[in-house]
Amino acid sequence: MAAEVSIRNVYKRYEAHTVVHGVNLDIKPGEFVVLVGPSGCGKSTMLRMIAGLEEISDGDVYIDGVRVNNLAPKDRNVAMVFQNYALYPHLNVADNISFGLRLNGAKKDVVKEAVRTASEILSLQDLLHRKPADLSGGQRQRVAMGRAIVRQPKVFLFDEPLSNLDAKLRTQMRAEIKRLHVRLGTTVAYVTHDQIEAMTLADRIVVMRDGRIEQIGAPMELFHRPANTFVAAFIGSPQMNLLPATLSIRDGAVFAVLDERNSLRLDESRLPPLTEGQEVIVGIRPEHLAIRGSDASSQVGTTQLTGEIDIVEPLGAQSILHTRLGEAAVTVMVDGLVRFDIGQPISLTIDAGHVHLFDAETQLTIPLKDAS
Ligand SMILES: Nc1ncnc2c1ncn2[C@@H]1O[C@H](COP(=O)(O)OP(=O)(O)OP(=O)(O)O)[C@@H](O)[C@H]1O
Ligand SMILES: [Mg+2]
Repeated sequence: MAAEVSIRNVYKRYEAHTVVHGVNLDIKPGEFVVLVGPSGCGKSTMLRMIAGLEEISDGDVYIDGVRVNNLAPKDRNVAMVFQNYALYPHLNVADNISFGLRLNGAKKDVVKEAVRTASEILSLQDLLHRKPADLSGGQRQRVAMGRAIVRQPKVFLFDEPLSNLDAKLRTQMRAEIKRLHVRLGTTVAYVTHDQIEAMTLADRIVVMRDGRIEQIGAPMELFHRPANTFVAAFIGSPQMNLLPATLSIRDGAVFAVLDERNSLRLDESRLPPLTEGQEVIVGIRPEHLAIRGSDASSQVGTTQLTGEIDIVEPLGAQSILHTRLGEAAVTVMVDGLVRFDIGQPISLTIDAGHVHLFDAETQLTIPLKDAS
């Protein structure tokens, strides 16, 4: 049921304009791969080339070892679900689901059985006679998925299937897609802008930028070991603080100097050899900073940063503090119950075990040994 998808050095060009630059990606049978990246980076183009809706300019796509570059979409054993799941307004749910099957001349009892199975999987049994106009957004999205399921594809391609739904429905549908994948075990390539969807659904996440892959890895791997500043900033919300700093080495102790007031003691035992004066970027996730006291002047310490509060965004359980440390803007996640005021001086502490380090010139990560 589940196919392997191999993408080999694939390019997409529109006349002189190259939008996908030699992408390589292997999706294992049954794997759930999520593509993320800024708008225009080529995510939909990748899916459409796999589906056969877009010509491949160069390179090859294989599905279960068969080169599909020149196969028609219907012969590739793939089904695609879009953000705008255009249903036929004059057909009821059952007929929408079975439309493709009937078009291909499937027998009546085959159609009936396919609709029965799909509607059971998607809990649409009671809605089969309704028209799309009489359905909620989430129900319509399920019909669109039903249409894909009945074709029994070996690969599902989802292009932002939930982005037209409100937050609550999106959460429900996200769980349904996960359930669907567990049940059917079909290979999935899924595009989303939603951090939580990417993190919760993916076996592996592919981070794209300008038609190239920046990093591929399990969600936690990307979160804990981003390859560069781009991935570090892209994975995680609110995004990682990336602060330019200069290294200063005193008696074997290594400090990242942010400004004349603030420097950060790094954990020497985890560092590779570094040089005095080296320009780096320090990465700290907002949830790894903590507030210590409110009297900035009395705080003297190597892992303390002093600044002031710029804006407070209460989310309920937590608040996002936007703070200023000299020139730098630093975001901090704090307990939502504690009250903070704009302009209030603050002192931030950080556990050295959570610091990321990047080379300022290449923007690549400087690998640190795991904290022992
Ligand atoms: N028919 C076309 N002619 C020329 N350029 C195109 C065409 N279709 C897409 N592009 C360009 O290809 C690039 C990739 O587009 P694509 O739709 O794959 O991006 P995306 O990552 O899906 O973005 P989004 O997140 O906004 O959906 C974009 O720069 C887009 O402008
Ligand atoms: Mg797109």
